[in-house]
Amino acid sequence: MAAPHVLPPVYARLAGPAGGLGDVQVMLGCYPGADSLESLAPVPQLAEGADSKPAQCEFESHRGHRAASVRSLSSVAGMTSAAAPHMSPEEFRAHGRRVVDWIAQYWEKLPTLPVLSQVAPGQVRSSFPAHPPRSGSGSLDAMMADLDSLILPGLTHWQHPAFMAYFPANASGPSVLGDLLSSGLGVQGMLWATSPACTELEQVMLDWLVDLLGLPAEFRNDGPGGGVIQDSSSGANFVALQSALHHATDGASITDGVTGAHIVYASSQTHSSVEKAARMAGLGSRAVRMVDIEPVTLAMVPAHLAELIAADRRAGLVPTMVAATIGTTSTTAIDPVVEIGAICRKAGVWLHIDAAFAGVAAVSPGLRWINDGVADYADSYCTDAHKWLLTNFDATAFWVRDRRHLTGALSILPEYLRNEASDSGAVVDYRDWQIELGRRFRALKLWMVICWYGADGLRAHIEGHVALSQELAGWIRADDQFDVVAPHPLSLVCLRPRWPGREADDADRLTLSVIETLNRSGEVYLTHTRVGGRAVIRVAIGAPATTHDHVARAWDLIRAEVAARSWTGVSGAGGSSTVDEVISSVRDISARRRPGAAG
Ligand SMILES: Cc1ncc(COP(=O)(O)O)c(C=O)c1O
Repeated sequence: MAAPHVLPPVYARLAGPAGGLGDVQVMLGCYPGADSLESLAPVPQLAEGADSKPAQCEFESHRGHRAASVRSLSSVAGMTSAAAPHMSPEEFRAHGRRVVDWIAQYWEKLPTLPVLSQVAPGQVRSSFPAHPPRSGSGSLDAMMADLDSLILPGLTHWQHPAFMAYFPANASGPSVLGDLLSSGLGVQGMLWATSPACTELEQVMLDWLVDLLGLPAEFRNDGPGGGVIQDSSSGANFVALQSALHHATDGASITDGVTGAHIVYASSQTHSSVEKAARMAGLGSRAVRMVDIEPVTLAMVPAHLAELIAADRRAGLVPTMVAATIGTTSTTAIDPVVEIGAICRKAGVWLHIDAAFAGVAAVSPGLRWINDGVADYADSYCTDAHKWLLTNFDATAFWVRDRRHLTGALSILPEYLRNEASDSGAVVDYRDWQIELGRRFRALKLWMVICWYGADGLRAHIEGHVALSQELAGWIRADDQFDVVAPHPLSLVCLRPRWPGREADDADRLTLSVIETLNRSGEVYLTHTRVGGRAVIRVAIGAPATTHDHVARAWDLIRAEVAARSWTGVSGAGGSSTVDEVISSVRDISARRRPGAAG
């Protein structure tokens, strides 16, 4: 049977009886290993299971990669006479059920899997053939077998209840189904005209989110502002900078480019994507000023921002954008947007708010304070539904107060995209609001999530995690071997073992080794950051399946590993006791230490 893509039938035909090479140019190089038609001859099928190569690998081109080569061929007549083996709707129905079942089973067995993948570098890659199959299998069996045996072990399970690393990347049933619908529809929403519902549902979803998060009405799509789904907060930070450059130059940035005078303000806690945005915009890293942070809250110091802006103005530079963060990546510090906003307003500088992780927490009315100042001052704002709002990647909500600078920066209209609806000015073409031209129908998954959970369900999801993290912080504070090292207003807690008697470097090494040992155990996945130059453990609670028991277990594990490195008489990883024995020793010792405890 012919391969699922067009190349193999083309070769099969061209290498057929006539075999002549004539006057038609055909690229061969895009088929790995194809330096001649002969090289595409099939090699024998691998024995099943041999070298753990996947079962679906039937044929393999036996030459190495070559640069693209061009051949002259005599004729194209009938080149694609072999039909592509498309999956029929009936086959899709059957296979689709099987895949959905597989996902449901995966979710069910998640707690039994090691949260962090234990494979060695290159292991997954080497278990697949170097070249694609020539003939399609027309069956899912081998692929599903490979999924289980080759791919699954190479996964770190982000939906695992003990995933407490980085920030969460929630996926939920409604979101996955919405994404499936989007894939099944296969529409491309670059223009309103290419699928009006794709654009208009997205506008509705972004307006709904304005309501759900208590964001300013100016962000709604029925005024001069508006919202759009970006692929990531990194992308959103970049288009915010493009908008800010357009604003700072009265639009000249799109014709004249940047002059080298444009300055961006951030802090040491700002996500690296802001500096990357400055690089990509051609400003360079040196155009990013580091505003001081307050040592306890780790939030930007507004007075220093004002000084830096004034100094740059005096030097003839152009303060262009301030990137304030609501919920920094390291510790979820919250920059004082009210004061920062007032400075930006006075100086005429674009204020972008990066609330990638934390912004969605405002779905809880009790947490709306995190957005103080946004309504009055933010020119643009982003938050990721794909982190903590039950929507699988990618779904960054991005709003601007006035869309003219965004579309002014990003809109280009080549003839081939002209259409009556766009020309009428009555519609929004989201291609003008993003880097890419093409775009998926991502609003469907947001719609499914919001309608499935409702405001109350989303709020319960967020508030549950916040409550768990506050409880964890209480346990840490009650233990004299640990410190909570930063404010923890949301669901991230940063802690540091005290390591009495150890030098700072030694203590940091021990802290990092605790994380490494726990991650290797597969029981929990944690990451680190540095606060005040010292290594700290981040416990980021936010997977939909995480419960009180998972957090309590993670805390027990951390204490056990620290105890194993601190106290003689308690052996830990590497010693003869099991982790559970160490945990019970730690519990005994803690119980004896607790105020009012006997003994
Ligand atoms: C504050 C902040 N901004 C930006 C990002 C980048 O997010 P994305 O993966 O959506 O690009 C992150 C990621 O954690 C973040 O915490």
